[in-house]
Formats: sequence, structure tokens, C-alpha cells
Amino acid sequence: MQKIVIAIDGYSSCGKSTTAKAVAAELGYAYIDTGAMYRAVTLYLLEHDIRFDDLPRVEQALHEMHITFKRNRKTGRNELCLDGTIREDEIRQMRISNLVSEVSGIPAVRHAMVSQQQRMGRKRGVVMDGRDIGTTVFPDAEVKVFMTADVLTRALRRQEELAAKEEHVPVEDIVENLRKRDHLDSTRTESPLRRAADAVLLDTTHMMIDEQVDFVLERVSATL
Ligand code: C5P
Repeated sequence: MQKIVIAIDGYSSCGKSTTAKAVAAELGYAYIDTGAMYRAVTLYLLEHDIRFDDLPRVEQALHEMHITFKRNRKTGRNELCLDGTIREDEIRQMRISNLVSEVSGIPAVRHAMVSQQQRMGRKRGVVMDGRDIGTTVFPDAEVKVFMTADVLTRALRRQEELAAKEEHVPVEDIVENLRKRDHLDSTRTESPLRRAADAVLLDTTHMMIDEQVDFVLERVSATL
């Protein structure tokens, strides 16, 4: 059967990655979490004491770092590796969430990540989630979904995810982080977060994950 690209973009913590993962598993497609890649760049810069405004050092770092995904056989999940080491837990911490949008706004960072993402999806058969997949990475994606949800609902979901990893954060701090990231992501000059003209809008405020997955799968069936 013809393999396609499914682009799932939208605001932070709307359930993009949970939905994308389940859709990929259902179709036997690869799942690529592009947000994890920007988080990994942020972690690398912090660990190497590289200032975000030191562009020559940032560019050098982009050549040096290796961002890959490794499949965890037990969970079936793709885990982010930075220079060969799994760093899933660290990249999800609030200290990274608080800085990642600053890093993802740097044009050199975007160029490097977008090219790598295009290479990863060149054979198609991928579900990719992020902010600019349907507009910049794969403007020719056959299925494009743009997710949104009420900010408090999103913050409560994120709070639960963090608590499961023993990071207890007040909901107001998470709301502030989501608002700040959404603002920075939507207003940057290079591939800002916006809905592609041909993306279908999905408000997940009152939806269960299964309903979100079915929604995307129906779009896929209608396309194939
Ligand atoms: O999806 P996640 O919340 O993990 O993304 C973290 C951050 O990475 C976003 O807030 C955004 O700044 C950046 N990002 C991006 N483009 C993408 C995916 C994520 O700029 N395609």
C-alpha cells in the first residue's frame, strides 16, 4: 500500500505525541517526535556551557552533536539519544521546557533539525509531530492535523506526566510555560507555529486519546 506522511502540529501539550505514537503503531509507521530533537539541542548547549547567542559556537555544536532515536524493545517506544546515550528523562524536565523555545527560534538550529527530519521521512511511512511539519518540513504531507486545546486542560495533563516522573510542578508554572512557549513558537521569524492552510483543526479539550487517534486514522483512510 502507498505510504504517506502524516503531520501533526499544534500547541504544546495538546496530546500530539500520544496521538502520533498510537497512529504510527496502528499503521506500522515510524514515529518521529521533532520536539524531542529541539529539547536535545537545548540540553547539549546547556551541558557544554554554550550561550544561545554565541552563534559560531552554536553552529559548531550542531555539527558535533548526534541526535538519534533508538527503539526500546520493551516499550516499543522510540527514545531520544544524544551522542549515543538515551536522554528521554532529562529532555522532558521543566528546566529544558523553560528554555527550548529560545533555542528552537535560532535559524541555524531550525535549518539543521529540519534537514535531519526531512532525511528521516524521505521514504515516507512516518507520523511526525511538531510545530512546522505541515508548513515547512513536509508541506506535501498527505494528512495534516493541527491540534489545539484549552490551556488549563493542557497544563493539567502535563502536570500529571511530570508527576509520574517525580517532578512536582504547580499548575500555574506550567500554564505560564505553555503560554510563553506558544507565544515564542508562534512569533519567531523562522518557520513559526501556524496552521497550514490545508491542515484540519482538532480541538482536544474534551476528547479522549482514542477519539483523537480515530480522528487521524479516518483522515488517513480518506486519503489512501
Ligand atoms: O513538542 P514539544 O513540546 O516537546 O516541543 C518542545 C519545543 O520544541 C517547542 O515548544 C518548540 O519551541 C520546539 N519545536 C519546534 N518545532 C518543532 C517541534 C518543536 O520549534 N517541529
